Amino acid sequence: MKTRWRRLWQPSLARRMLLAQLGLLSLLWLALCGYAIYDTVHQNEDLGFDQRYELALAAARNLSGDPVRQRDMLQHIDRINRGDGVQESNPSWQLLMEVWQDGRMVYASPELEQPIRSTQLGVTQQVQTGQRKWLARTLASPDGRFVVTLAQPSDLASIYLTHSGFLLMPLLVCLPFMLLPAWISVRLALRPWRRVSAEIAERGPHDLAPLDYLPPHRELHPLVDNINRLLGRVRESARRERNFIADAAHEIRTPLAAMQVNIEAAIQRTPDTHLRALLDGSLLGVQRASHLVHQLLALMRSEAAGAGRQQNPLPLHTLLQECCAMLAPLACQRGVELELQADGDVKISGDTEGMLSLFENLINNAIKYSPDGGLVRIAVQSDGGQAVITVSDEGPGVAPELYERLCERFFRVPGQRQGGSGLGLAIAAVTVARHDGLLRFGPANGGGLQVTTTLPLAA
Ligand SMILES: Nc1ncnc2c1ncn2[C@@H]1O[C@H](COP(=O)(O)OP(=O)(O)O)[C@@H](O)[C@H]1O
Ligand SMILES: [Mg+2]
Repeated sequence: MKTRWRRLWQPSLARRMLLAQLGLLSLLWLALCGYAIYDTVHQNEDLGFDQRYELALAAARNLSGDPVRQRDMLQHIDRINRGDGVQESNPSWQLLMEVWQDGRMVYASPELEQPIRSTQLGVTQQVQTGQRKWLARTLASPDGRFVVTLAQPSDLASIYLTHSGFLLMPLLVCLPFMLLPAWISVRLALRPWRRVSAEIAERGPHDLAPLDYLPPHRELHPLVDNINRLLGRVRESARRERNFIADAAHEIRTPLAAMQVNIEAAIQRTPDTHLRALLDGSLLGVQRASHLVHQLLALMRSEAAGAGRQQNPLPLHTLLQECCAMLAPLACQRGVELELQADGDVKISGDTEGMLSLFENLINNAIKYSPDGGLVRIAVQSDGGQAVITVSDEGPGVAPELYERLCERFFRVPGQRQGGSGLGLAIAAVTVARHDGLLRFGPANGGGLQVTTTLPLAA
């Protein structure tokens, strides 16, 4: 509930456009109302219509001998004036009449409290009586005996009351109905914008390629261009960073190798057991550093290798046999047995070096984290156009909530006693992704970890 309120109060472009549309419409409408009212006040057609006067003047003159009939007739004309058009429905918007004969008032509309008379004949004038303002026009018969004045209220209150109904109501009635179409039009207009943002949202953290969707809309071009330019800069800086790390790792490798040779020679030559123990410790440290540098170099190489890298059809059976042979001394040292079950003709396409490094990392982990004398099973199957390779061990396994972190660079399960850099699975993940494959973790039957690699079969 709280989040919904917060969303409602959050600034929104759609709401801004909607309000601008409705605001503009209301403004135009109000300007129109203002013009209509101005027009009514300044160019009054009712008062300018001379036939009304002629009728009243003729009636007054013809019936001047019979005051009762004259009054009746004038009253009749007065009613017709008022019943004419819309005025009747609104008592504040009336055409009122006064008739004078020889300077004496013979008729006045019943609503008139005080007599109104404009000072100039034939001219529409503003006249004030008490609190009220009127627009009045007076005409006289040619002999000057009879005078007729027609008047309309001209004070703002009555004009507002009269016009508000006719002019403002349509706006008030229409606004809620216009809200939905206006909202839909704004949403439609913002659709390309949402497409761009959806494409950005779908991106993985390592996907720095330019955006695929280039909207044809002029307003979105600068946004997409700037994003693509930024992606280009980030790509370039990531490439420079990778090159730097690779160069540094490469440079460090040579002195480390020299140190290792020297320490090994020193261990062989010294009879002093205490010194030997110290040198053994140093040798271990140098070996660890060499391994880390080797892994760093491998990671940078596999990240730098693009999709254009050479793709060979590789028989998995041979590839995995090669890996097992390479790791046999390590397995032997720990008394770990390696079991390979592979179909002879499952082939994938990829680069040999990358694939060797991938399986070496997985099998190396399985051996390293197995208990002494454990069994490491490697199995290859083909399943619906995919090669499925599983490596399982009998080690402690990994808690499922940590699976998604295993491929992060330098991540190691806390409390890990085995030495390592935390880069092996990061390298494996990059290589697998480069070959359009998938790397998944799960519990093995023997209680350890099972790593499943899925790769597309060679065409
Ligand atoms: N087979 C396995 N059994 C148990 N834990 C494993 C296994 N493979 C990997 N791990 C855990 O995942 C972490 C990351 O592995 P990796 O990236 O290969 O780094 P490293 O082996 O150099 O520590 C390891 O530190 C280890 O804690
Ligand atoms: Mg490892």
